Amino acid sequence: MHRHLSRFAVVAAGFMLATPIAAQQGAPGGPVPVELLRHRRAAFLASMPAGVAVIRSARIRSIEGDYPQDSDYRESNDFFYLTGIESPGGVLVMIQPDSGSARGEARLYLNPPPARPDPVSAPRTAAGPAAARLTGLEVVHARPPVPRPIRRGEAVIDPLDVVIDSIGGAHQLATIDYRRTIGPLRAVKDADEIRRLRIASGISAEAHRAAMQATRPGMWEYEIEAVLEYTFRRRGAERVGYPSIVGSGPNSTLLHYDLSRRQTVDGDIILIDAAAEFGYYTADVTRSFPINGRFTPRQRAIYALVLGSQQAAIDAIAPGITLAELNRISRDYMKEHSGTLCGDQSCDRYFIHGLGHMVGLDVHDINPYFTELRPGMTLTIEPGIYLPDEALGIRIEDVLLVTETGSENLSAGVPRTVDAIEALMASGRGP
Ligand code: GLY
Ligand code: MN
Ligand code: MN
Repeated sequence: MHRHLSRFAVVAAGFMLATPIAAQQGAPGGPVPVELLRHRRAAFLASMPAGVAVIRSARIRSIEGDYPQDSDYRESNDFFYLTGIESPGGVLVMIQPDSGSARGEARLYLNPPPARPDPVSAPRTAAGPAAARLTGLEVVHARPPVPRPIRRGEAVIDPLDVVIDSIGGAHQLATIDYRRTIGPLRAVKDADEIRRLRIASGISAEAHRAAMQATRPGMWEYEIEAVLEYTFRRRGAERVGYPSIVGSGPNSTLLHYDLSRRQTVDGDIILIDAAAEFGYYTADVTRSFPINGRFTPRQRAIYALVLGSQQAAIDAIAPGITLAELNRISRDYMKEHSGTLCGDQSCDRYFIHGLGHMVGLDVHDINPYFTELRPGMTLTIEPGIYLPDEALGIRIEDVLLVTETGSENLSAGVPRTVDAIEALMASGRGP
């Protein structure tokens, strides 16, 4: 990695801290409880086929090579799920000699602690007792350093890959593609994952409320985006779960409009699809509301149809049902209640995307579309109707946690009905 280090290093040396701040200290999400990490790894080993699974941490992005200021390190989801730590260079090796057995071993390799204080980078979790404490592993191995290329761009062999090959060779085990092992595990959230999703959804709901209260005709879309993202960050979200969608008027009909460049005008609808990522878990929340605080009769009618279609699906969520079935239920509702709102045809021809998806570490999380829902799964329900000829797009999206008997709406803190939205917007405008 290239850093313009020389001048900076001289200046920074004068301010060097005697004791570096412990890595991950102060992360708003807090540590993942070690008993849950141990349980996740045991479940992984119990369900993986015989072989070696290699779960790598994320790459450090290059400030010069990728995007300006894009060094914000975010751990890879699978690595974080199984170790609970952020550690560039880290590799978790899961070794299972017999398919389906309770045996097996998790071996974690992390960079050794830096030999000298690093005046440039944020501290990261390195091999040692702190890493063992955070991960719940007895031993955390220091990985051998990767040699620097002699010429720029030259391929180098990572000595850890040689170590991993020798583990496989010694046990006569092949390296496996572990996605089918981790997918079903990540789909059902444990208590700490639900805690994080609950907070991410709560922060997102608060931000949507703030946006509803702040919005006035004439504001630019980016100003409204700033209200949302200010609330995310102020409440401890590390980043947005995905680029915020703030689309007014014609932009409300573009599913993933992310430019936020238009000035709103009186009479517009605005569609906001934005959510916080908290402790690595993201919500996914959409609300659509009138810029001036009052729905027109037409906006109100389309809104009511989308809301009814969303509620029909939410009411049907229970263990055993599939997302595919919920999609059919929601569309059937829309077909039956369209009347003449969309002309001769049902409005569901303008419902141009799927009803929902799983959410978790990824906004579009491992997606068992045809798999029966189980308690602990978290998904979105997000019907929409998009009418470009009328510059009118309505989507309503919430995060639902599947429970033993039905579901819980984790993003219920932001109004969903026409009356509740109008009341909140009026409260933001003062007497
Ligand atoms: N925010 C992306 C989606 O709703 O799927
Ligand atoms: Mn979504
Ligand atoms: Mn969304």
